[in-house]
Amino acid sequence: MNGIQLAQGVTLPLSHACKHALITGATGTGKSTTAGAMVEGLSAAGVPVLVFDAKGDLESLGARVWCPFGQRGAHRAINLGAAGADLVARALDLSPAQSGAVEIVAAYAEDKGYALACLDDLQAGLRICTEQRAAVSAQYGLFSPASAAAVSRAILPLRRAIGDAFGLPGLDPFEAASAGGVTVYSCGRLAQYPGAYAAAVTACLLTLYRDAAELGQVDRPALAVLVDEAHLIFDGATPALVRKLEQVARLVRSRGVMLIFATQSPADLPPVISAQLITRIQHGLRATTPGQVAAVRAAAMGLPSAGGRDLSGEILALGVGEALCSVPDMRGRPGAAVRAKMRRGRIELRPIEVARPATVPVVKAFRPDPPGPLPVKEDRGLWRLLNPIARLFVRI
Ligand SMILES: Nc1ncnc2c1ncn2[C@@H]1O[C@H](COP(=O)(O)OP(=O)(O)OP(=O)(O)O)[C@@H](O)[C@H]1O
Ligand SMILES: [Mg+2]
Repeated sequence: MNGIQLAQGVTLPLSHACKHALITGATGTGKSTTAGAMVEGLSAAGVPVLVFDAKGDLESLGARVWCPFGQRGAHRAINLGAAGADLVARALDLSPAQSGAVEIVAAYAEDKGYALACLDDLQAGLRICTEQRAAVSAQYGLFSPASAAAVSRAILPLRRAIGDAFGLPGLDPFEAASAGGVTVYSCGRLAQYPGAYAAAVTACLLTLYRDAAELGQVDRPALAVLVDEAHLIFDGATPALVRKLEQVARLVRSRGVMLIFATQSPADLPPVISAQLITRIQHGLRATTPGQVAAVRAAAMGLPSAGGRDLSGEILALGVGEALCSVPDMRGRPGAAVRAKMRRGRIELRPIEVARPATVPVVKAFRPDPPGPLPVKEDRGLWRLLNPIARLFVRI
């Protein structure tokens, strides 16, 4: 059978891999190990894979590693223009009024043909729109200088912390697809800012949605995209963005794109999204609080089971590396979940070795240098220059 063996008796048919996959389980139960084995299997079958690595432990999977800061691999940044105004607003944690100002700057930049790739471009756009607010407001709707100023203030801390992550060259999933093999986008530092991580992932998915060609039914994916810590994409996403992502998940299927989302619980994702992820690998969950008990029950209900039996007890009993697996059958129908010991890949999952910077940055003492002897100044007070009567008085 032309598929990827995930466990003894569990094979994912490549021709139905584009029905997407969801890997869930409590921390330490084996999600990354299963995801790693799946990535290796896809790559061995000739499918290029792009991995969004939120923790750094998947870097060793990559034939190449890219990094938004250029520190852990080749520099590939988040192009704000590709991300779009609503993702920029989310990365900056803006209010709806402030998002409106970003929306106007984005529209203005597009119409004028200006690049809006990095945070400095956005600052410049805010300044220009503020200077020309009458004309801008007439064309795009009310542009509020107060909102623009608030956006500028929001940019400042992000720019200082992770400013290099935005700009060019932008992360391009088609580059990963044509390079072949496994490309890991190392997001350990970026994921400390969930809005920025969400912007990187979502911009990539929107690019695929916009630019990938329709392929119809494929015998194997043209590209697989693995997103670790996938809940970060949806935390705080607006309903409009969730709707958009549902559409993306639905439509990229026939463009040969396979999505693999890994997160702790299926309840971490909006139901409209998890409904699009047909292959399910459910590792163990723990339930000590009422909320966790409900999450286990919901996870069990999301798994097709033989005879419709309740799988909650089995989910709680799974050991490390074990999972309940539901993969599509050869006709693409979701198969009944079976309990299995998952295969490990051949590559040990770990961060890559990166040479430490040779020089230690010089940190200047906050206290200014001690003052030398005070220079004797000629008295040229501003008040004398400005006030002719006083000047006259001093002369006298
Ligand atoms: N199939 C398996 N067989 C044997 N050991 C496994 C298997 N899967 C995972 N393990 C072991 O369990 C530990 C945790 O695995 P892993 O990092 O994959 O978990 P995780 O669910 O991704 O954890 P986290 O939520 O912290 O990211 C590792 O030490 C790994 O070697
Ligand atoms: Mg993990």
